[in-house]
Amino acid sequence: MHIAQNISLKNYNTFGIDVKAKYFVAVSTIEELLEVLKLDEYPEKLLLGGGSNMLLIQDQNKLVIHVNLKGIFIEDETNDSVLIRANAGENWHEFVLWCLDHDFGGLENLSLIPGNVGTAPIQNIGAYGVELKDTFVSCDAMNIETQKVSTFTNEDCNFGYRNSIFKHEVKGKYSITSVTFRLTKRNHPLHMNYGAIATELEAQNITNPTIQDISKAVISIRESKLPNPKEIGNSGSFFKNPVISKVKFEKLQDNFKDIPSYPISDTEVKVPAGWLIEKAGFKGKRFDNYGVHKKQALVLVNYSDAKGSDILNLSKLIQKTVLRLFDISIEAEVNIL
Ligand code: EPU
Repeated sequence: MHIAQNISLKNYNTFGIDVKAKYFVAVSTIEELLEVLKLDEYPEKLLLGGGSNMLLIQDQNKLVIHVNLKGIFIEDETNDSVLIRANAGENWHEFVLWCLDHDFGGLENLSLIPGNVGTAPIQNIGAYGVELKDTFVSCDAMNIETQKVSTFTNEDCNFGYRNSIFKHEVKGKYSITSVTFRLTKRNHPLHMNYGAIATELEAQNITNPTIQDISKAVISIRESKLPNPKEIGNSGSFFKNPVISKVKFEKLQDNFKDIPSYPISDTEVKVPAGWLIEKAGFKGKRFDNYGVHKKQALVLVNYSDAKGSDILNLSKLIQKTVLRLFDISIEAEVNIL
């Protein structure tokens, strides 16, 4: 295990921001992770998975630990379902494709989400009507201070919309080492309620879809509106969709008749932040080498060599404008570091 110095993190974050790590190490076994976490001479440590949910705004003076634990294991199976454990460093989308190759169902709607398996529970990744929590059984995580490994069940994780215990009570305290899912082997329940999926399947003349068809439809929808981080740096949705009271929503409808919403409870609705940002005039806006994606206003992009601080300032300007126009605060979904 080699601790390198002054390493560029450009290839370790999907925004493609070129900042340096003062110290950097990649770990590929639990033993290596344990050894590195014990190193007292580096009191400040930053764990890095796929780097798909972060905006780096400065050089990191910490020891950056790239968690690269690989392996996918079938832990148990019945006639109907299977228990799969994947190590934290597996690429999320490749893991989803592995499940689909084995005809294991439950993750197909989550195809093509950037990032790694180990960071997926932190924000309870979700797309097209499905969230990680729907198939998540548990995860193992190493305490950064004590190096003790604990198991967090679905209930322990306290999952919510883009939210979990790892963003609150135990934030920064654990390194997730593996995640276990319960997936179906037959009679796969299909999730096609999200409008765009049905439309996509129809366009392809598919009337009796398989989980593989759903994955292909999701991939095609994502490719049509979300930029590929390998081509244009980005971190997916930069903001969360805000939840507001029905009372406030009805007032907004007086001025903005076409404002969309999704029901949350009897008293609250969720409003697509992408709509608010588009209405505020930012969709497709380009400022030199960064801007707002032209097909999805929720996604901020780095066209080439942008500074994290420029993107952060743009996000603040968007927040301020949305607040002024709609009296709605939109919260960043990505971690700013
Ligand atoms: N909209 C606009 N303009 C835009 C973008 C969206 O008006 O530029 C409006 C439209 O009314 C559209 C609605 O917003 O019908 C919803 O748009 P979309 O289906 O693209 O979904 P989203 O709410 O913008 C969320 C997730 C995405 C996920 C999609 C699909 C969040 C923060 N984002 O986006 O997740 O892929 O739904 O399920 O919840 C991510 O988290 O990184 C991410 C990409």
